Amino acid sequence: MKYRKLGTTESEISEIGYGAWGIGGNQWQGAVDDESLKALKRSFEVGVNLVDTALAYGEGHSEQLVGRAVRQDFRRIYVATKVPPKNRIWPASPMTPISEVFPYDYIIQSTELSLRNLGLEQIYLQQFHVWSDAWTNTDEWRKAIEDLRRSGKVRYFGISISEHDPDSALEAIKTGTVSAVQVIYNIFDQMPERNLFPLCQAMKIGVLARVPLDEGGLTGTITEDTQFAPGEFRESYFRGDRKKQVVEHVEALKRDLAGVPGSLPEIALRFCLSHPAVTSVIPGMRRVATVESSCRAASAGKLDTRVLETLKRHAWNRNFYQ
Ligand SMILES: NC(=O)c1ccc[n+]([C@@H]2O[C@H](COP(=O)([O-])OP(=O)(O)OC[C@H]3O[C@@H](n4cnc5c(N)ncnc54)[C@H](OP(=O)(O)O)[C@@H]3O)[C@@H](O)[C@H]2O)c1
Repeated sequence: MKYRKLGTTESEISEIGYGAWGIGGNQWQGAVDDESLKALKRSFEVGVNLVDTALAYGEGHSEQLVGRAVRQDFRRIYVATKVPPKNRIWPASPMTPISEVFPYDYIIQSTELSLRNLGLEQIYLQQFHVWSDAWTNTDEWRKAIEDLRRSGKVRYFGISISEHDPDSALEAIKTGTVSAVQVIYNIFDQMPERNLFPLCQAMKIGVLARVPLDEGGLTGTITEDTQFAPGEFRESYFRGDRKKQVVEHVEALKRDLAGVPGSLPEIALRFCLSHPAVTSVIPGMRRVATVESSCRAASAGKLDTRVLETLKRHAWNRNFYQ
């Protein structure tokens, strides 16, 4: 495993982080706690030292599993979690006042609940689970950050940027208040390269690349016949003729990648790590096999320029979250 410095912090973060949404069990089906704990443990053994979870993932269940795994391990593991929007609306609307989403008392209480779920004394990176720059010039969120850092309950703050809106936190980043952002970045969604990544590089802000496998689209395993459990998030994400569209895009990708060593998911993870703004890529990994495959990808290093040029052509501008 290789490590990269997170922005201006003192921390060296593993290039692969553990995305812990899927193990929460409410929106992704099929996670089994024993298997999730084994996957978490294996990830630490192979050098992963960052886990990204959220209070909203299984209403604390993901945090509880992460806390158990982290407390049983002797290594230094950096835990990132998130304050959900108080109104529980994803993504944020600029028309909604911040008082309905992140009031001061709510940020403090949500952080304390996450600490109890995790069984830890400090959250390494606390992130706002939605953001709108319409809120940047208000005071309460900054005061909450100051107070939580002063009390030692949180080491650093970050923003989890809304899907398909990578420019929605540029003003907040410019304040210098946050140390990291996380954003959707993958072969299909290359939008953050335009404005967000150059700003993060200039401001020395850490970047966690999330959804690197397009919720499974870039694993190459989705076919027109793939069925998701009723009510699972991906049933909606890949609804209608979307699976057919994904298959067509993946086939085109595979044709262009013929001769490039590694599986499609491994190349997809290396794509993210090839951008110098990215600190860590955080695939969801509920199984030991996917942990091992993802970590192998990171050890293969950056993709060469010729492959990156090819992948640029596969950017695909669509929003399946709607
Ligand atoms: N708003 C937000 O803040 C937000 C939203 C979405 C995601 N996130 C974060 O980003 C993380 C990643 O996103 P995601 O989990 O939604 O989707 P993702 O990482 O794009 O895709 C996860 C899928 O890829 C599979 N996979 C992972 N590594 C693989 C490999 N090497 N080879 C083959 N398949 C592989 C996983 O399999 P198995 O699970 O079966 O092992 C899972 O089915 C989340 O877990 C969460 O931490 C944050």
